[in-house]
Amino acid sequence: MTHATPHPHETDFGTPARTAGELVTLEIDGRRVTVPDGTSVMRAAMEAGITVPKLCATDSLEPFGSCRLCLVEIEGRRGTPASCTTPVAPGMKVATQTPHLAKLRRGVMELYISDHPLDCLTCAANGDCELQDMAGAVGLRNVRYGFDGESHTAAAKDESNPYFSFDPAKCIVCSRCVRACQETQGTFALTIDGRGFASAVSPGAGESFMGSECVSCGACVQACPTATLTEKSVIEHGQPEHSVLTTCAYCGVGCSFKAEMKGTTVVRMTPHKDGGANEGHSCVKGRFAWGYATHKDRVMKPMIRERITDPWREVSWEEAVAHAAERLTAVQAKHGRGSIGGITSSRCTNEEIYVVQKMIRAAFGNNNVDTCARVCHSPTGYGLSQTFGTSAGTQDFKSVAEADVVLVIGANPTDGHPVFASRLKKRLRAGAELIVIDPRRIDLVRSPHVQARHHLQLQPGTNVAVLNAMAHVIVTEGLVNRAFVEERCDVAAFDRWAAFVAEARNAPEAVAERTGVPAGEIRAAARLYATGGNAAIYYGLGVTEHSQGSTTVMAMANLAMATGNIGRDGVGVNPLRGQNNVQGSCDMGSFPHEFSGYRHVSDDGVRALFEEVWGAALDGEPGLRIPNMFDAAIDGSFKGMFVQGEDIAQSDPNTRHVSAALESLEILIVQDLFLNETAAFAHVFFPGTSFLEKDGTFTNAERRINRVRPAMPSQVGWDEWRVACALATAMGYPMSYDHPARIMDEIARLTPTFRGVSFDKLDRLGSVQWPCIDADHPGTPIMHADRFVRGQGRFMITEYIPTDERTTRMYPLILTTGRILSQYNVGAQTRRTANVAWHPEDILEINPHDAEQRGLKDGDLVSLASRMGATTLRAQLSDRMPPGVVYTTFHHPVTGANVVTTENSDWATNCPEYKVTAVQITRSNQPSDWQVERDRQEGERKRVSAAAVSAAE
Ligand code: SF4
Ligand code: SF4
Ligand code: SF4
Ligand code: FES
Repeated sequence: MTHATPHPHETDFGTPARTAGELVTLEIDGRRVTVPDGTSVMRAAMEAGITVPKLCATDSLEPFGSCRLCLVEIEGRRGTPASCTTPVAPGMKVATQTPHLAKLRRGVMELYISDHPLDCLTCAANGDCELQDMAGAVGLRNVRYGFDGESHTAAAKDESNPYFSFDPAKCIVCSRCVRACQETQGTFALTIDGRGFASAVSPGAGESFMGSECVSCGACVQACPTATLTEKSVIEHGQPEHSVLTTCAYCGVGCSFKAEMKGTTVVRMTPHKDGGANEGHSCVKGRFAWGYATHKDRVMKPMIRERITDPWREVSWEEAVAHAAERLTAVQAKHGRGSIGGITSSRCTNEEIYVVQKMIRAAFGNNNVDTCARVCHSPTGYGLSQTFGTSAGTQDFKSVAEADVVLVIGANPTDGHPVFASRLKKRLRAGAELIVIDPRRIDLVRSPHVQARHHLQLQPGTNVAVLNAMAHVIVTEGLVNRAFVEERCDVAAFDRWAAFVAEARNAPEAVAERTGVPAGEIRAAARLYATGGNAAIYYGLGVTEHSQGSTTVMAMANLAMATGNIGRDGVGVNPLRGQNNVQGSCDMGSFPHEFSGYRHVSDDGVRALFEEVWGAALDGEPGLRIPNMFDAAIDGSFKGMFVQGEDIAQSDPNTRHVSAALESLEILIVQDLFLNETAAFAHVFFPGTSFLEKDGTFTNAERRINRVRPAMPSQVGWDEWRVACALATAMGYPMSYDHPARIMDEIARLTPTFRGVSFDKLDRLGSVQWPCIDADHPGTPIMHADRFVRGQGRFMITEYIPTDERTTRMYPLILTTGRILSQYNVGAQTRRTANVAWHPEDILEINPHDAEQRGLKDGDLVSLASRMGATTLRAQLSDRMPPGVVYTTFHHPVTGANVVTTENSDWATNCPEYKVTAVQITRSNQPSDWQVERDRQEGERKRVSAAAVSAAE
């Protein structure tokens, strides 16, 4: 089965599939058709291969019945009902093609075409326009009404959105866009204004798309059957000629896309209807923000230099690899085997990550490998494995459709995980209850047709206290699911935990002042979670990036076990993973103490297996974690580092400390698309490949292994996995593969949870959720269904130990950080796309009361200072923040939010405490010292790069 298809169209069945009902048999155009009850006549016909003309119907949206093109005749019924809104019935006899129907349809089309510009040959949608197709399908040959009457053909275009154009002259007011915005995206940005002939689509109250609530997800563009809403890239390049099925490389939702291509140029990215994670939806990043892949800033050739103050010199791949190997080997000879190490990237494929950790363990000869997951979800791995026995979320995303109560804690899905947020909002609109635990009033708390029942607006750093208090209510008010606990869990551990949370010091009233949450709210939220039916927890970095991150994960797992909310649809404990492959980077053995599949390096049996397959002696001692590498670099015992696709100089906490560590290295090798902040300290630069060039797999937050397929050849000559192989080989450990599929074969051989995974299987099934234990295994959407992976679920004592970071008179506010929809992480990709239209700079959100005390106005430049450092950015007054708490994002290096964050970290995993920093805010009219110094270095870097380019020329 090939996944590069010559024709980009998919069958549109007109209305969504129904799966639950009894089977119904009917007759359509003389053919017997059997479909589930509730299916529309239109869909039944389409499934039988009978095409019914349609315009307002599409199978991603509920039927609307406005265009009157899909009329049919049904024996025994009067008139000509619309087939899209008519459900099937047993024994029904339907005719879709009669002379009468043909005449009616031609009449409908005549009306549409008489009010439509006749510029088909020059229209961007020519060949991909349903109006054009339907005119042909109904046999329209002339238009009796003429084109001279009143029409909409002179309506002005709205070009305000950077990615799509809105040309109302071509609109047939089918309302598909409005319904897509409501049903699929859940933003409700579009309406139909006016009535009858005057009705027209409008974003907001007469606003432009950019001035409206629109979040540029593109669902309306995809739904539009005409050229009214069209991607600007299609207008520029014309219709695509083939497509390649692949996976978005931004967030952990892992949306499947068809990269629609013209040669090696991407024309558009269309979310794939059969994508397990997204089912045809996407956000602005995946659909539109792919231009970075061909941005002029990309480094296309390997480069080396002796000192970091020297200009870069472009060299061949072979020379760069030989140079890197020689320097690493020399460092080891001088400083010892443990003096070098590396970091794998959650942006890369499983196969690319696997070869890097293998290179470190087998060629470097130590376990000094860590991953950027250290700084985001490492507490998830620890907390869930302690309680449930596995380091991953329990559900598939689809499961949220069965939830009755959803608890969102420390996550902002509408910005961070937008496609999951759309699923969640759909369920909330259908009646599920929502509890939000977050210091900030995130959009989910109140948005169109969504209102959280409880928003526990806690002080940053008090998650554990709030969750313990909820547990207190559940235990002391008799809300525990005893049957589940007795059947599925370690009862002695439960008893210890129940006694602990029942202590008076854990009562809501005892923690109300410290947490800032009224006791009554905690009690009500706990009761709702325990008694409201299926209850599901979704969480993000607002849980993990704390000094008690692992404790919070275990506290959530305790709640789920105590209430029996594990092991079926609609429940569970679910990390919303940050980066596209953060789950995969953890699975692939990127942590210094674990081989792939989370097996400890000190386990002799496991190590022997790897030694046999890899043909190398392996170290049984865990290696250094990222913060230990930095400390050891400053101490002088760690001297060489390979950094795969990760900008640690910008993304890790306490930038000054990280910079000092990187400056101390004798050899730093960076592999990336761009000369990032970390590359300023590098001696060797290997150009990386974008997701559009990669061949491999990503694993999303649902443990779903998705294929990433190359839409274009590597722009830099070498695939990334080949670089690690060459470097290992040059260091004396031969490593080679003829295709990434062979790397996956090795992963499967060595990793029990991946044993049944292969590229062939993924190509056949589309995707597979691990555990997938043999070739016949279909994967595991819901974990712990009959028993926990560790046997019995284990309740853990979750003592609340406050962070050392405290407010003082000098630093009286708490800073917490997060991200925004349009930008991604350190912004290396999204800043190089038109997404900057939405977020050109990082902003400090501050409560109006705190602003007034400081004499600040909206838009003022302010200094954000902590014990670690200071930076300057613009303030925005916002009552989303409670008094005493400020918030910013970290997407722009010029802001350097991590200049102020501390080195506090999770007690179990060292995940940095990004979410709690004591700060002071004052008015400022100048950049901070750090920013002045950064500007100077940036100027120097540009000078050095320019010198390198002119030397190469
Ligand atoms: S913009 Fe497109 S989808 Fe929306 S009403 Fe007009 S034709 Fe239909
Ligand atoms: S792009 Fe998305 S949010 Fe904007 S109007 Fe269209 S469907 Fe709504
Ligand atoms: S939700 Fe995440 S995976 Fe999906 S398109 Fe957006 S960024 Fe990509
Ligand atoms: S497709 Fe059925 S009424 Fe439009």
